[in-house]
Amino acid sequence: MTVSVDAARLLARQWLREPVARRWRHVQAVAAKAEQISGAVPASDRDVLMAAAWLHDVGYSPDLVDTGFHSLDGARWLRRQEVDERVAGLVAHHSCAWLEAEERGLGSVLGAEFEREEGPVADALCCADMTTGPDGQSFEVLDRLAEIRSRYGADHLVTRFISRAEPEIVAAVRRTEERLGVGPSQPM
Ligand SMILES: [Fe+2]
Repeated sequence: MTVSVDAARLLARQWLREPVARRWRHVQAVAAKAEQISGAVPASDRDVLMAAAWLHDVGYSPDLVDTGFHSLDGARWLRRQEVDERVAGLVAHHSCAWLEAEERGLGSVLGAEFEREEGPVADALCCADMTTGPDGQSFEVLDRLAEIRSRYGADHLVTRFISRAEPEIVAAVRRTEERLGVGPSQPM
């Protein structure tokens, strides 16, 4: 079933707004950023980008936790709701989730269950997520990665994941900036 952008927003709001209000602030800002940079994807892909932006962190809803890995939990739940496979796949693998899955011992599970899309939409989703802070503030990507490291602490699995993922996350942001015709220091 093709999920409309409005339906995606309402689903995200339903599952995130009350139980995880801070995460909901982040998600609203990620969606706003995705809209702002949607010129980096073909016009026919803009609704998919927006739906994935609204839903990318739905797996943080306490009611949807299964494995505890939010990308996989969210994507599995979306599949059960019969949301399009493309959106579910983007959520499953968003922002280099395949590397976090490896840190969690779930790499082969994630890869077997969901196809990983590469290209402008996956890059733009990563860019919107990784230039938006936990309260919705806008960040340069390197500052956002530093923020994540300091929030989780040196020994945390998420910090190990971010260190491994940094080159690919930064590359996705830079490719998106190139598609938009802006440089790293300019606002997107
Ligand atoms: Fe996010």
